[in-house]
Amino acid sequence: MSTVTAERVALGSSDVQVSTLGIGAWAWGDRFVWGYKNGYNDADLQAAFQATLDAGINLLDTAEMYGFGRSEKLIGQFMRESGQRTLIATKFMPLPWRFMKSQLISALRGSLRRLGVQCVDLYQIHWPSPPVAIETWMDALADAVEAGLTRAVGVSNYSVKQMERAYTALAKRGIALASNQVEYSLLARAPERNGLLKLCHELHVTLIAYSPLAMGLLTGKYTPDNPPRGMRARWYKPPYLAQIQPLLTLLREIGQAQGGRTPSQVALNWLICKGALPIPGAKNVRQVQDNAGALGWRLTDDQVAALDAAAERLHAI
Ligand SMILES: NC(=O)c1ccc[n+]([C@@H]2O[C@H](COP(=O)([O-])OP(=O)(O)OC[C@H]3O[C@@H](n4cnc5c(N)ncnc54)[C@H](OP(=O)(O)O)[C@@H]3O)[C@@H](O)[C@H]2O)c1
Repeated sequence: MSTVTAERVALGSSDVQVSTLGIGAWAWGDRFVWGYKNGYNDADLQAAFQATLDAGINLLDTAEMYGFGRSEKLIGQFMRESGQRTLIATKFMPLPWRFMKSQLISALRGSLRRLGVQCVDLYQIHWPSPPVAIETWMDALADAVEAGLTRAVGVSNYSVKQMERAYTALAKRGIALASNQVEYSLLARAPERNGLLKLCHELHVTLIAYSPLAMGLLTGKYTPDNPPRGMRARWYKPPYLAQIQPLLTLLREIGQAQGGRTPSQVALNWLICKGALPIPGAKNVRQVQDNAGALGWRLTDDQVAALDAAAERLHAI
């Protein structure tokens, strides 16, 4: 039973009404990067699913690639066993042997089967992968909408130019591009610099912010003495973890000034203040509940500006 009513906003200009924060399910079944079954298991994920709904968060982001289908299967299982439906955003990967529109529809049918639903709420192209033209995949997405297999369509990792092409191609079929999902956080501010965030606002395309906690770094729990393990240890080394400590200190200070908010909540709220929709990953109830605490309040303009400046100083290093 959902116990909280969280604010809802339209996904792009579609009729899909989403909470202002979703939960990402890449770690739900992924061993390679996230270490599935090593520190968290299906019971943790089922409890995280329930905590998501209980917090009033109604959007889960997944992909056919996550855990090679395991993420979608787990979400399907959790919905079936709880008798509760969440909005689902999933993704099509344009693998090198996929070049026909019909292959997108087959892949979508595979996702629907694993999820145990007739229709998803958002179907996204995971990466813009040449040589297949953007227009071909947009045509296929439009076919999926017309076949009633998805309510809205989006793209992911598309640049300004690629998104403009996608938007135009869909518009020719009378369909609005609902979202562009890209990496965006206090430690990855390219969407502000390259004009993507601005264009999303102009076109009423929701910018879905992935890795909004910089894969856990913005929670403040990783330090040079306590680096992340696995694949993340290769990407985030102690010198970098040392460099970001001033930003983490500021997240803590602002959190205190906001009545005891955690660094994660402040980092996620900063994204919401920018007009993006963050989808933090979560492996257990505690992480879901912490991240859900980013909802229902707002940073002041001065706090947003202070975080901008602190992140900018890091960029300059
Ligand atoms: N479209 C794309 O190409 C793409 C790419 C990447 C991600 N995504 C989507 O975006 C979602 C989120 O991105 P992400 O998972 O890469 O990174 P993220 O949300 O920045 O970080 C998630 C990780 O941080 C840790 N964490 C999360 N909340 C926490 C909390 N409150 N307290 C302590 N630790 C916490 C957990 O890992 P540990 O406990 O192990 O630290 C969790 O798995 C993904 O699940 C996926 O749906 C999409």
